[in-house]
Amino acid sequence: MGGKSAGVLQASWVQGTLQDRLVLGHALVIIQPTICSRIDATHGTPRSSSLSFTSCSSNHSNMLPSLVRLLPRASEPDPEDIFTSSLGLIFTDDTQCQHGGLDAQVIYKSRKFAKDITLTSAEPEGEIERRKFAHYVWNAGILMGELVGGRPGRVESDDMSLEDDRDWWLSETEQKAWDVAGETVLELGAGVGLGGILSALAGASEVAITDYPAPTILEALKTNIAFNLPEKARRKTILAGHTWGSLQDDFSREHRGTYTRILAADCLWMPHEHHNLARSMLHFLSPADEARVLVLAGFHTGRSNLAPFFEEVVPDEGLKVEEIWECDIDGKRRDWDPLREEEAGGERNKWLVVARLRRRKN
Ligand SMILES: C[S@@+](CC[C@H](N)C(=O)[O-])C[C@H]1O[C@@H](n2cnc3c(N)ncnc32)[C@H](O)[C@@H]1O
Repeated sequence: MGGKSAGVLQASWVQGTLQDRLVLGHALVIIQPTICSRIDATHGTPRSSSLSFTSCSSNHSNMLPSLVRLLPRASEPDPEDIFTSSLGLIFTDDTQCQHGGLDAQVIYKSRKFAKDITLTSAEPEGEIERRKFAHYVWNAGILMGELVGGRPGRVESDDMSLEDDRDWWLSETEQKAWDVAGETVLELGAGVGLGGILSALAGASEVAITDYPAPTILEALKTNIAFNLPEKARRKTILAGHTWGSLQDDFSREHRGTYTRILAADCLWMPHEHHNLARSMLHFLSPADEARVLVLAGFHTGRSNLAPFFEEVVPDEGLKVEEIWECDIDGKRRDWDPLREEEAGGERNKWLVVARLRRRKN
């Protein structure tokens, strides 16, 4: 892993050591076409292309860069994009919150399923679509994929030997609540669809992957479903346009109360959409006692934008937070604190909120 020549680097997994990062940073500046395009301030200012995820439960190295790599596509690199996409590799206290962009495909290296997942992003048409940020895979999306994909069991270590994955994002008890095998799964704001795709691979009985009904976004999702799912998994997967809070379309009417797992990753950065999002969650959530909504979001968009969703909107809309914590990209956990003093950019970008919601019983 972590080959150091420019030729090898494009196809090699990004390693987490300082030395590798510096070498990779240099190589990326030189050889990688557009890794990320300009980021809008509304969704934070993620600036680099390196991300380190380790297990949430210990310091065993289990870094996210070993799960994601970028395949450059056709067009010429924009110098500004190349510079911004390399900052996190050079200044290693900075954190990349998004992966991909218009001219790159993101490959998620699955440790559990035999085939890696290739994610092509949508090329947004116009400003409204661009500001939906469906054309990246966000850290929360990758973590969602990990959690619903499930424990790999035995994993290949650096020296190619097999070792137990003793360290994992969730304890065994928690994992049961995040398992999707045999469940009916709905992904809201799917972006490139990693959570839904991994749910289908992980044995969900039915999967609906949805996003804002823009043709470009849905087209990318269609490509990703077709490319990554074998026939059997494809047959149980549907794709639908769904705007949060719009519950009168055919899809919404036909699937009311259908889903026992609802996934939402990095969908909380717009407080004015919180009620709509929660209404969709409640509408589609099965009345079964075990039905859960799984919500992840990165703090790169500001704690004060995310916190009201859990503190006010969830109870207002008939849901309840069953469990919530904060998890950082280096594997640490800490308690959820809606009022925590805002951390400076580099530190803030390392943290995500992880939450499980259920229907509120009256
Ligand atoms: C930041 S992206 C997250 C994508 C993906 N879940 C991930 O974590 O990688 C937010 C997603 O929410 C979708 N979205 C934004 N506003 C929406 C709305 N009003 N209705 C439905 N989807 C919306 C966007 O199209 C985009 O795919």
